[in-house]
Amino acid sequence: MRSQKLAPASLKLDVTTLEGISFFNQDLEANPPADWLAFREKLQKSNGVLFVTPEYNRSIPGVLKNAIDVASRPYGKSSFLGKPVGIVANSPGALGGVSAAKHLQNILPGIAGPILGQPEIYVNGCGDAFDDKGQLTKEAVQKVLQQYIDAFAAFIEKQKRVGGAFSIVIASEAKQSLARHNGKLDCFVASLPCANALRLSQAMTGERAGPHPSR
Ligand SMILES: Cc1cc2nc3c(=O)[nH]c(=O)nc-3n(C[C@H](O)[C@H](O)[C@H](O)COP(=O)(O)O)c2cc1C
Repeated sequence: MRSQKLAPASLKLDVTTLEGISFFNQDLEANPPADWLAFREKLQKSNGVLFVTPEYNRSIPGVLKNAIDVASRPYGKSSFLGKPVGIVANSPGALGGVSAAKHLQNILPGIAGPILGQPEIYVNGCGDAFDDKGQLTKEAVQKVLQQYIDAFAAFIEKQKRVGGAFSIVIASEAKQSLARHNGKLDCFVASLPCANALRLSQAMTGERAGPHPSR
């Protein structure tokens, strides 16, 4: 079995799940909860955002929409602003979460940077792609994920050259993780608390993602 870190060395990824983010409520905007501020800060200090998401009812899960709403405020000061975006959709079904990905492509343009258009990735039927330790073993999925993460790394580099305004700072909540990345993190991964989204993230980062809350 090949190494589980598919992302190239130039791309440092930090997997963050979204279950701790309070519901957005405009009445709280003047005095935002600490978890909103922490999430926004992580995004602001990252050079790009990679969404790894399942599909719920032909769209994105509410927990992801909530996180996007939180990050998009205050108005005009979205924490995604200017950040290059990648989207890895997955579903146990045949269509691989394509509708979720398309909805993300609809809602992000006003609040984020450029979205990687090609290649696209919709990981379908990924239920049997992992072994019992959560390692990605299905070669076909490894191959497309590899192609995607390489393209995303190149996209981030290109955007850095084009924009010239990306600062590489830190974006991690865990002190251990800060030390591991030696103060530099190129990319922030927003992932959902769904097993396959986490495992796909883990395959790219080579790092163990958090436990699935329902397993
Ligand atoms: C409320 C709900 C709606 C769902 N809607 C869809 C859907 O529209 N299309 C689809 O392919 N899968 C749908 N699913 C399946 C999810 O994509 C699947 O549960 C998700 O990938 C998480 O599974 P995992 O924890 O095994 O990764 C839905 C699941 C839930 C809980």
